[in-house]
Amino acid sequence: MGIEDFKNGTGQRLYARAKQILPGGAQLLGKRAEMYLPELWPAYYSRASGSEVWDLDGRRYLDFTMVGIGAQTLGYADPDVEKAVIDAVKSTPMCTLNPPEDVGLAELLLELHPWADMVSYSRTGGEVMAKAVRIARAATGRDEIAFCGYHGWHDWYLSVNLAGGDDLKGHLLPGLDPLGVPRGLTGTTHPFAYGDLDALRKVVEARGNKLAAIVMEPVRGAGRIPGFLEGAREIATKNGSVLLFDEITAGFRMNTGGAHLVYGVDPDIATYAKALSNGFAMAAIVGRKSVMEAVQKTFISSAYFTERVGPAAALATITKHRKLDAGKTLTEIGTRVQAGWKKAAERTGVPLTVTGIPALAGFGFQDPDAPALMTLFIQEMLGRGFLASDRFYPTVRHEEQHVSAYLDAVEAAFGKVADARAKGDVRSRLLGPVKHTGFARLA
Ligand SMILES: Cc1ncc(COP(=O)(O)O)c(C=O)c1O
Repeated sequence: MGIEDFKNGTGQRLYARAKQILPGGAQLLGKRAEMYLPELWPAYYSRASGSEVWDLDGRRYLDFTMVGIGAQTLGYADPDVEKAVIDAVKSTPMCTLNPPEDVGLAELLLELHPWADMVSYSRTGGEVMAKAVRIARAATGRDEIAFCGYHGWHDWYLSVNLAGGDDLKGHLLPGLDPLGVPRGLTGTTHPFAYGDLDALRKVVEARGNKLAAIVMEPVRGAGRIPGFLEGAREIATKNGSVLLFDEITAGFRMNTGGAHLVYGVDPDIATYAKALSNGFAMAAIVGRKSVMEAVQKTFISSAYFTERVGPAAALATITKHRKLDAGKTLTEIGTRVQAGWKKAAERTGVPLTVTGIPALAGFGFQDPDAPALMTLFIQEMLGRGFLASDRFYPTVRHEEQHVSAYLDAVEAAFGKVADARAKGDVRSRLLGPVKHTGFARLA
């Protein structure tokens, strides 16, 4: 079976149907086939286990992408997390009374975050950020937000693009249209670049006592920038703004808990989702009492914030993560992969930049036609049995032999990319269109 056969795969046929009845095809931009390999990506899975995925035609892949969009650190179908979830399902996940795991999970999160006093729950990343921003606004009595990075799809965040520009370009996703976001929110959200304390100072000078919160990820693509988090902490304290660390992707990668614990800078509130519960919907805010008590002053309440599967999965995930010291393993695997990318690039002559902390590793081709080269890379990798992209978020189930096989395939794929660059025929080697790099309307 050749790579051409993916065009007629069951997954691609189902995805073509999906685009007619599900606007955008998938419910997450990052799960659109167009973000990987248009017209060939298998698109749907039948099952997954460890670091392996099977598509609808029974084809098996090793997953070297973000692996469940960053929600997995223990690997797919971890038996301990699964058992906790099955127990929660069997005992009924939704009841008139509350799940006791709510309290156990809060105690565990507070043990991991000694600076925090209280916890509140939600079920997705964007939603927990909207809740945290509401809490910060309620606690300070202020409206405006300074931020860097990506924080989800909600109005508070997208409103930054109402000013008419593309202010979210450079904060992970370009081209985000704020259509449908009330124009009245114009000017309530102010971007600054990660690592640029002067830019943050300028926002604070201009908006001063209107700023409810300074919102950022503690670490992302660039890695740690010395003094930045400390500086932001000082500015937030002086200005009376809540310092909100979004740990939705950075958390549980280097360590068990937030990346800020590694860096020794405590926020006022921090948000978690994704890796918190290894693939089950769960999200949490941990924070200081002075801020968190605002939850009681404003109305935040939702039926499924009280179901049992999420906290049961999170408790099992965190307990195992800590026991395995998973952060150490993820860093070791990511370090090996980052070194392997560099070596393969040197051997094949492909110009490459490697980014991110090892546990959230990424790379890019230094070439004006980089999206086409990345499409060719993904196509080559798919043909060799790998789900691959420009990012790799390790799990503890990426074993030695998986990584070796992946790096061998990477070198072969980089060789094809180098050859295509040299001959100038990248696009003619692609079996479908060039992949998308950001938000775009699907035809
Ligand atoms: C830092 C950060 N915040 C928020 C979100 C949004 O999370 P979700 O997709 O669960 O809504 C993401 C998702 O990629 C993220 O990486």
